[in-house]
Amino acid sequence: MKNIISVKNLYVQFGNKVVLKDINFDIEKGESIVIIGPSGCGKTVLIKTILGIIKSYKGEIYIWGKNIKNLNEKETKDIKENIGMVFQNSALFDSLSVWENVGFYYLYHTKKSKEEIKKMAIEILKKLGLDEDVIDMMPEQLSGGMKKRVSIARALISNPEIIFYDEPTTGLDPITSQGLTELIKKIHNDFNTTDITVTHDVKLAKMIGKRLILIDNGKIVESGTYEELKEKSNHPLIRSYIEIGG
Ligand SMILES: Nc1ncnc2c1ncn2[C@@H]1O[C@H](COP(=O)(O)OP(=O)(O)O)[C@@H](O)[C@H]1O
Ligand SMILES: [Mg+2]
Repeated sequence: MKNIISVKNLYVQFGNKVVLKDINFDIEKGESIVIIGPSGCGKTVLIKTILGIIKSYKGEIYIWGKNIKNLNEKETKDIKENIGMVFQNSALFDSLSVWENVGFYYLYHTKKSKEEIKKMAIEILKKLGLDEDVIDMMPEQLSGGMKKRVSIARALISNPEIIFYDEPTTGLDPITSQGLTELIKKIHNDFNTTDITVTHDVKLAKMIGKRLILIDNGKIVESGTYEELKEKSNHPLIRSYIEIGG
């Protein structure tokens, strides 16, 4: 099976507010897709539903061909280890050091020794261009860009096949944002990951997305490459980016 994620007729509702309406898409191995849309359109809810964090929905979600509603314990564990998640705003644990954040999964869910986990954390941080001496720092001592790299390291430590990035450049200055965009592209190439990024940043979407899915008001309104959307889309998010020279 080529599709590693399939979303079919997905509806998510909170109270009487329908947040996602009839969402359908497939993602193939090795793709880099970007789900783009204005703030509040349901992007984070979509990721959380695919990851099984939001459990109340209508429709079907398949990961590696398995309906996520019917997973046994081993399948849940396999999926968790093979999916990395970079949360919005980095979401590091303030009371844990950098290496403890990066090795969090192994520290709390496996029997690996601290020394072993620290070694793994150092190795992955180095691959992401962070100096070894950050490993004992606390999150509050890091810049926004460094925090992002640490949260990417945490997602990558188990060598996952799929990575989700939620608003990876939001809140960063343009230069840091550019550096991070390059890093995401490099990870995609070096680690052969399948990437699903959600963002309202059209520049990021254009740089990393081989395919863009535009969501507004909970619905997929357009999809295609950036060039295709540039040609055909009348959506204000795309048009206003083109107006500034995008
Ligand atoms: N747990 C929740 N309970 C109720 N409403 C929620 C919940 N999570 C998200 N929402 C609402 O769903 C909508 C989409 O949110 P979200 O997916 O976070 O948007 P974004 O596209 O900015 O990531 C928003 O109106 C938000 O208030
Ligand atoms: Mg969001």
